[in-house]
Amino acid sequence: MKNNPYIEKVLAHPYIFTKEEDIYGKQGKWCEYFENDHALVLEIGTGHGNFFSSEVHDHPEKNYIGMEIKYKRLYSTAEKCLGNKSNYAQSSGTDTTNFVLLKEYGQKIGTIFWGGEIRETVVFFPDPWAAKDRQKKHRLLQRGFLEDVYRITKSWGKLYIKTDHEDYFQFVLEEVATTQWNIHLQSFDYVEDNLANNTKTTEFEQMFRGDRRKFCYLELRKES
Ligand SMILES: C[S@@+](CC[C@H](N)C(=O)[O-])C[C@H]1O[C@@H](n2cnc3c(N)ncnc32)[C@H](O)[C@@H]1O
Repeated sequence: MKNNPYIEKVLAHPYIFTKEEDIYGKQGKWCEYFENDHALVLEIGTGHGNFFSSEVHDHPEKNYIGMEIKYKRLYSTAEKCLGNKSNYAQSSGTDTTNFVLLKEYGQKIGTIFWGGEIRETVVFFPDPWAAKDRQKKHRLLQRGFLEDVYRITKSWGKLYIKTDHEDYFQFVLEEVATTQWNIHLQSFDYVEDNLANNTKTTEFEQMFRGDRRKFCYLELRKES
């Protein structure tokens, strides 16, 4: 890890937060950070950021917060987001960039965001899948996390989930049933069910589409 050239790049990057005071000091104040009241969209596990950066570019009317734990992935995501902008190093204090990345575990959302602060959350192809029972406690999508996302979500806001791991998906459905989330859309094979156009393809999905692998899809809505 010491030789990872991306550590320095991430630490110096103005749109990747790694320090506790930057990540945790904004609970309930993310709109102040972005200097507008646009809807906040959260993606957890952005990977190399194909989906995240595409959304950032396509929706300047929304603000995006990405969470990821790997340095290289954070850096490449930030650079893709800045792809159509001038050199960020020269940007002024009044920059209008509509994204920020947090180097932090998704499990920490409960202390990073305030109740009702987020409009939509996206969790696509989360790992670890953890097949063995004793490892399932490491899965991101479980009751406590789902309840945290519910609490930070605005009324009628949504949580979008995709996975290619059917056992994990089944587990998620059981966990969802113990929460206040309402299931808006659900599919064990969303290509077959013609739901593929509902969202863009992520890089993980792109790698395995050719295998005709089945992808599970879930859209949850906070109906209160
Ligand atoms: C299988 S990849 C999927 C990436 C991307 N969402 C996609 O669909 O192509 C899962 C990503 O989640 C990140 N990750 C794993 N556990 C995480 C956690 N607890 N919090 C935030 N990110 C996490 C990994 O580093 C990895 O980049």
